[in-house]
Amino acid sequence: MRHYLSVDDLSTTELPDLLDLAAALKADRGAHARALAGRSIALIFEKPSTRTRVSFEVGVEQLGAHAVVLSSAELQLGRGETIQDTGRVLSRYVDAIVLRTFEQERLEILSTTATVPVVNALSDFEHPCQALADLLTIREHLDDLRGRVLTYLGDGNNVAHSLLLAGTKAGMHVRVATPPGFEPIPQVVHRAEEIAAEMGGSVELTHDPEGAAVGAHVLSTDVWTSMGQDLEADERALVFPSYQLSQKLVDLADPEVIVLHCLPAHRGQEITDEVIDGPRSVVWDQAENRLHTQKALLLRLFGVA
Ligand code: CP
Ligand code: NVA
Repeated sequence: MRHYLSVDDLSTTELPDLLDLAAALKADRGAHARALAGRSIALIFEKPSTRTRVSFEVGVEQLGAHAVVLSSAELQLGRGETIQDTGRVLSRYVDAIVLRTFEQERLEILSTTATVPVVNALSDFEHPCQALADLLTIREHLDDLRGRVLTYLGDGNNVAHSLLLAGTKAGMHVRVATPPGFEPIPQVVHRAEEIAAEMGGSVELTHDPEGAAVGAHVLSTDVWTSMGQDLEADERALVFPSYQLSQKLVDLADPEVIVLHCLPAHRGQEITDEVIDGPRSVVWDQAENRLHTQKALLLRLFGVA
């Protein structure tokens, strides 16, 4: 049995294989339509979600399985039942547990007591399902990812962590431009550097957004204030403006650059209307690709494709 708690749970050969399967599922939406028939999958959200919730629920149904969607407020989890006991009990009913939560440790604890696969649907530390959709989207526009420059601008957060791991696993040069004090955590940076050394890519951290944008093949950003950090929003709004993904930065990048944003976007903050609605933006394809990549992930976790 496998879990998917981090991008690093997929090897550098499993990752492109999974993207191949996702591309096949995108080309033929009826493919593997009964592959998970008779199975039930719990989708638990301790934070809000639009894309993850809907793409998982629809994807599970497209594979013939049944989705049980729950918020922690509806579960005894919200009244103090432990994550361990929740995992033990749910494993008697369902065949996988997809969890969006706060600390990564909650997913790790769940994976030790659940007897079914556990999937990270976003934690404070990583957003590994998002990174799969990001790589599929990049692959649709750039034939070979090896040696391409992926620049992420803004907060060194969960999305940045997963992109660092996914980009280096794809052999890319990953640049991360953050304000001082908002860098990705060293543990993730070190692991990404190890992967980059193996795959022929590189990792560069900088506080210079313009330098990071020069020649980039992919420009990506995310909200300045993530879920759970709302009390810091005013302070962050003062620190981040020079990292805004604006047309000025797009103009510094490769002429064929694509612009990613995992969404939801705070237009006028981390990205301008001109860029997100502009000709280089592929954010709606990126959002769609959540569906195809997560279906591929589920098929692989169950070993049925
Ligand atoms: N990108 C993403 O995970 O969106 P949701 O928060 O809407 O699920
Ligand atoms: N970094 C953001 C991603 C939302 C999909 C957050 O955690 O809120």
